[in-house]
Amino acid sequence: MTQEEVFKTLVAHAKEYGFIFQSSEIYDGLSAVYDYGQMGVEMKNNIKKYWWEAMVHLNDNIVGIDSAIFMHPRIWEASGHVGAFNDPLIDNKDSKKRYRADVLIEEYLAKLEEKMNKEVEKGRRKFGDAFNEEQFRATNPNVLRSKTKYDEVHARMTKALNDNDLKELRQIIVDCEIACPISGTKNWTDVRQFNLMFSTQLGNVDGGVGTIYLRPETAQGIFVNFLNVQKTGRMKVPFGIAQIGKAFRNEIVARQFIFRMREFEQMEMQFFVRPGEEMKWFSQWKQTRLAWHKALGLGDEKYRFHDHEKLAHYANAATDIEFEFPFGFKELEGIHSRTDFDLSQHQKFSGRKIQYFDPETNESYTPYVIETSIGLDRTFLAVLSSSYCEEALEGGETRVVLRLPACLAPVKLAVLPLVKKDGLPEKAREILDSLRFDFNCQYDEKDSIGKRYRRQDAIGTPYCITIDHDTLEDGCVTLRDRDTMVQERIPIGRLRDIVEERVSMKPLFKKIHKICG
Ligand code: GAP
Repeated sequence: MTQEEVFKTLVAHAKEYGFIFQSSEIYDGLSAVYDYGQMGVEMKNNIKKYWWEAMVHLNDNIVGIDSAIFMHPRIWEASGHVGAFNDPLIDNKDSKKRYRADVLIEEYLAKLEEKMNKEVEKGRRKFGDAFNEEQFRATNPNVLRSKTKYDEVHARMTKALNDNDLKELRQIIVDCEIACPISGTKNWTDVRQFNLMFSTQLGNVDGGVGTIYLRPETAQGIFVNFLNVQKTGRMKVPFGIAQIGKAFRNEIVARQFIFRMREFEQMEMQFFVRPGEEMKWFSQWKQTRLAWHKALGLGDEKYRFHDHEKLAHYANAATDIEFEFPFGFKELEGIHSRTDFDLSQHQKFSGRKIQYFDPETNESYTPYVIETSIGLDRTFLAVLSSSYCEEALEGGETRVVLRLPACLAPVKLAVLPLVKKDGLPEKAREILDSLRFDFNCQYDEKDSIGKRYRRQDAIGTPYCITIDHDTLEDGCVTLRDRDTMVQERIPIGRLRDIVEERVSMKPLFKKIHKICG
């Protein structure tokens, strides 16, 4: 299957099994907006729990908040979003489709990279064991040609973005002969800036109306509550404030399913530090966050850092943790050193003094900030896409199985009576009732046991138990493992502890704590 076919299959599977639905589907859908179904919401909640507990409960000096989506409009002037939260857009005059100019160029660069990699693979096949990749990349004329072009275009794009030079961005598209993927033509308009914030009207008590914005990031809710939390929580720098919540962006290039949405969720943490210590904390948070990702067991090789060359207006260092999605390596989480930009701006715009008195140095200062900002929906997609597996079984059968990390699986345990008679359903329900306080369980008595196993495999349930006639005699059930399909006989009294040990988040937390502690 091509990458595109794999992705289509994944999207269809997510719908068929109640993970993700297109928003407003019966009205033909709303573009780049999605609903989480009965399985999706469980998994999403589990991801939130993994992040929240790792951030807030494992760290003495990090606390959480839940701030409102609607905020005073001046906040977005202070943060720079009114003036600078723009995407450079270009339209193709024939297809009438609108694109982000930088994304068109990045896709062109990705093609060059793919070309170089293909050449290297050809060399590897040709030279076998004697192949030296470094030497090949440094000498092969085809690779060198692509590399020179790549470096030149990349440097031009970085400079144009840094200088906000829209004419030059258009010129790069023209020079590289980039065509519209829909019309195939190179008939482009000028590049224009487009603000990404959604606005709406707030009715005032005096009958007037004011324009307010749907927040484009959760971070500002943390900054404007800095004093509240620091004072009421008696927090001492360094400390962090975490929050999970919805954010809204009027994305133009809204493709790739839940990767880029107009309404999405972020899990953000702002860590306040002494000025001058930000780089130490920046590298520490890079490692801490990578460890959090890797503990999920999706594959260490699927993650990489991508340091920013073009820094946002508020940052003095920034990196992305990229994940290998079915459509290539893309940003999953951003880690930014935001200096004292946000707190200073809010001090200026609100007229309130936002400073911290450090009892250790006897000084007052505006703390610097390290931000970790991860998309909940992108994490969902990372987990789902790397867990989907079509497996050939003995006898020519295949099964679709979601090899989800057990602690994130929507359903932890399926309780299945072998037949719908002889007192087995009653016994199964008795067991279910004793376990539902500990895990999200599902009861299923319809169809053959084989079909029921397949249904549970498809939603990633790590364990199934079968209640058979022997259960009534010996008080044991058959416990079946999703991944190995191995079955073991277990006394009912030990079920809770055995399953708990295998589906708990605790081992992940212990691993992260050891790395970070
Ligand atoms: N407060 C900083 C901030 O918002 P960002 O890099 O714009 O930084 C952080 O966003 C994370 O939010 C991204 O790494 C990504 O995972 C997620 N994200 C951003 N835009 C998104 C969108 N349109 N749809 C889904 N997730 C998005």
